[in-house]
Amino acid sequence: PTPDILALRGRVVTFRDNPFTTDPVAALHHEEDGLLIIRDGRIAQMGTYADTLRHLPADTQVTHYPDCVISAGFVDTHVHYPQLPMIAAYGEQLLEWLERYTFPTESRFRDPAYARDIARRFLAGLLRCGTTTAAVFCTVHPQSVEAFFSESERLNTLMIAGKVLMDRNAPPDLRDTAQRGYDESLALMTRWHGRGRQMYAVTPRFAPTSSEEQLELAGALLARDQTVFMQTHLAENLDEVAWVRSLFPARRSYLDVYAHAGLVRPRAIMGHAIHVDEPDLMTCHDSGCALAHCPTSNLFLGSGSFRLFDALDPRRPVRVGLGTDIGAGTSLSQLQSLNEAYKVAQGTGHRLHPVQAFWLATAGGAQALHLDHRIGTIAPGMEADLCILDPEATPLQALRAQSCDSISDLLFSLMMLGDDRSIRATYVAGRRVHERA
Ligand code: GUN
Ligand code: ZN
Repeated sequence: PTPDILALRGRVVTFRDNPFTTDPVAALHHEEDGLLIIRDGRIAQMGTYADTLRHLPADTQVTHYPDCVISAGFVDTHVHYPQLPMIAAYGEQLLEWLERYTFPTESRFRDPAYARDIARRFLAGLLRCGTTTAAVFCTVHPQSVEAFFSESERLNTLMIAGKVLMDRNAPPDLRDTAQRGYDESLALMTRWHGRGRQMYAVTPRFAPTSSEEQLELAGALLARDQTVFMQTHLAENLDEVAWVRSLFPARRSYLDVYAHAGLVRPRAIMGHAIHVDEPDLMTCHDSGCALAHCPTSNLFLGSGSFRLFDALDPRRPVRVGLGTDIGAGTSLSQLQSLNEAYKVAQGTGHRLHPVQAFWLATAGGAQALHLDHRIGTIAPGMEADLCILDPEATPLQALRAQSCDSISDLLFSLMMLGDDRSIRATYVAGRRVHERA
């Protein structure tokens, strides 16, 4: 069979290097008039339009996005698909918010038809925002996982997801047991991990809702397969941290509760990690686990400020990705996450450069997930998950773009003013899956 060929022309941005350890502008690769050739879902060629055109078979159509920025698709390293219907729930901080809004909503996912409907809306919503990979919490119900992976498989998106483990401190209809959680996770992991582009994450919700036995069994699941992911929450809120201290008095820190159970390792993703100390960050550095910075959520729930530049300290860098954390987060758009991440950095005495910001949302996120050999940058051999960004999506943005005289400026205006309207199109493994109306 003849290979599927696709050619995209526009302003290409990707990364040569980590902009947190080198000069950000030098870390960026920018082709003002670039051409991408995609074959069978992967990038085959990338370069200037003038030089790259000769690699294109004569009759191939070129899709031209003049004035648009072609980027790797965004990576969302922490999000809850079942919480989409309860985004923007008023008035509480974490623990009360979970009781009052989250648990009742998650109870509805016992119904597979409801789960399918929300999974569809969620994945369509991500693609509409240019996000092509996410690490996703389902609910305690195995059918919520089945619904999610089925829809992701249909779209061919690279997704990480898992069944929430929760055997205490939750409503009875949302509790499993240590053994049942193990058995159901193992069955889902066997069925879905590595099937097409789908990958499984063992998903203990957080330390307060899992017994020590359940955390140990989560560790046993992970010990079966080094390529399986782990996702949970860590030190998000001060009341939560105090609760964990009282539930696990023998542990030095919240992170040590997870470490003791064998959960702190490569491909483990800890959401939030606001109230952590230097020994915790050292443990993260040594273990290869990742932290998910969730700025819209942290501001919404009043949880505190993630110390991004401490985590990334080049003397012991920790892997960090960006998370929307819907439904505590307030937008599915990673542009909106970056908008808030910039302000949080300002508030902690740091400046998040736009090139650093876009790296976090793409290549950095991929690196945090140990997937940087497949996604997160645009280069030959990489999987063609892309978003096409329009810096002039609204009259205000069109006005602002007129006075942008560098690519950094343009990226900054996109992250401060942009949202789903900024996404002209989204491609997944070389196939267009979203186009703005
Ligand atoms: N901690 C435990 N569960 C949750 C959740 O669903 N959302 C957030 N933001 N924090 C949590
Ligand atoms: Zn979360």
